[in-house]
Amino acid sequence: MNAMVKAEGVHKSFGSAHILKGIDLEVNPREVFCLIGPSGSGKSTFLRCINHLEKISAGRLYVDGTLVGYRQQGDKLYELKEKEVAAQRRDIGMVFQRFNLFPHMTALENVTEAPVQVKRESKTVARERAQRLLDRVGLGDKSGHYPSQLSGGQQQRVAIARALAMEPKLMLFDEPTSALDPELVGEVLDVMRDLAEDGMTMIVVTHEMGFAREVGDSLVFMDDGVVVESGHPRDVLTNPQHERTKSFLSKVL
Ligand SMILES: Nc1ncnc2c1ncn2[C@@H]1O[C@H](COP(=O)(O)OP(=O)(O)O)[C@@H](O)[C@H]1O
Ligand SMILES: [Mg+2]
Repeated sequence: MNAMVKAEGVHKSFGSAHILKGIDLEVNPREVFCLIGPSGSGKSTFLRCINHLEKISAGRLYVDGTLVGYRQQGDKLYELKEKEVAAQRRDIGMVFQRFNLFPHMTALENVTEAPVQVKRESKTVARERAQRLLDRVGLGDKSGHYPSQLSGGQQQRVAIARALAMEPKLMLFDEPTSALDPELVGEVLDVMRDLAEDGMTMIVVTHEMGFAREVGDSLVFMDDGVVVESGHPRDVLTNPQHERTKSFLSKVL
């Protein structure tokens, strides 16, 4: 079985700033893989490398057995053309802290947009799927609403539906609930839990330790560009082995 994501010695520098310092990890299909760590430790950078929004400086990164952003010939790597990168990215859904919905489009239009524009799907098919997805995230009756008419939690659920509309094989979540008022966090986590139960492979950067413990299959603690500790969320959270993990958890738990 291929790993859905495999990182081998992934490094990333911005100029002289060495941000990722050799990340090795594997995410299996259907796994909910949680990534925690202090601000600035490189979590977002790593997620962005997975869909080649950032180019890695060294190492190898594979999604579903395919090298991300490059083609290997012999022992040389050739960067893929923008079009080929876009094709790879299509299979990876990404949900950010900020929902980034198109403000001038209704919820339904937001979810319909990419399949029609990118996949050249018929509007009828795309709309039917969009409505199904909005139903699924509990917003079936809000399809005609504009983002400004929705709460932050509802907007984030539309953003999840929008990512799902491309039928991704992998979903990346970058602190999807950290911009939300506390009372709206639960409704977004519920949607993510439902996705997880449905077998979606997910990498979730989060500070929601309850979610990590209950839904996560693996948990990685990252600090200063390295994986400090990883394992089953229950083990890492209740019995951390490293000082840095202990110190971080004592601040967030
Ligand atoms: N495009 C960029 N150019 C320069 N430095 C960056 C860039 N993106 C991120 N960084 C730096 O990389 C470090 C890690 O950032 P980030 O991946 O956002 O951390 P995290 O998501 O864990 O908070 C930070 O010091 C940040 O300033
Ligand atoms: Mg971040």
